[in-house]
Amino acid sequence: MKASSFSFKIATVMALTGIAMGIGMAASHDHSLMPAHAHLNLLGWVSLFLFGIYYKLNPNTDSSRLAVIQVGVWTLGTVVLTAGVAAIHLGNTGAEPAAAIGSLVLLAGMLLFTLLVFRPAAADRISPAVAMTPAE
Ligand code: HEM
Repeated sequence: MKASSFSFKIATVMALTGIAMGIGMAASHDHSLMPAHAHLNLLGWVSLFLFGIYYKLNPNTDSSRLAVIQVGVWTLGTVVLTAGVAAIHLGNTGAEPAAAIGSLVLLAGMLLFTLLVFRPAAADRISPAVAMTPAE
């Protein structure tokens, strides 16, 4: 699966979960999960969707295994951080290490993305004019 497709699919699942959490908070008048909701929506929906757009615009990076791994690492970090933050705000301070681990996994995911942006796949570095020259 291409990185963009993987990213878009997970982003929509995260958005549905984040929205359900928001509706649950609004309906119950209990906003204690607000930080978890905000992180899930911004890391899981907005960021993953933005990664997907970047990969779609850079087809060779989109096909790379490292980009798929980057999306996987980001997803794992988002789930662990969100669960940790939710548990902390529900009164379980013992979940702090989970939130800390999640944040470090997210840092690793952003480092991978930075690497992919600064060192795009070799074919992406060929200018479009050169790439489109017919072989006559
Ligand atoms: C049906 C959809 C949604 C519902 C019902 C909902 C509901 C809520 C509620 C009840 C709060 C708590 C507000 C407070 O206690 O002050 C909140 C906070 C927040 N939501 Fe949502 N939300 C939804 C979608 C989203 C989406 C799509 C995003 C981001 C892309 C988002 C980002 C945030 C953020 C950043 C906060 C924290 C705001 C602050 O710090 O004051 N929400 N939301």
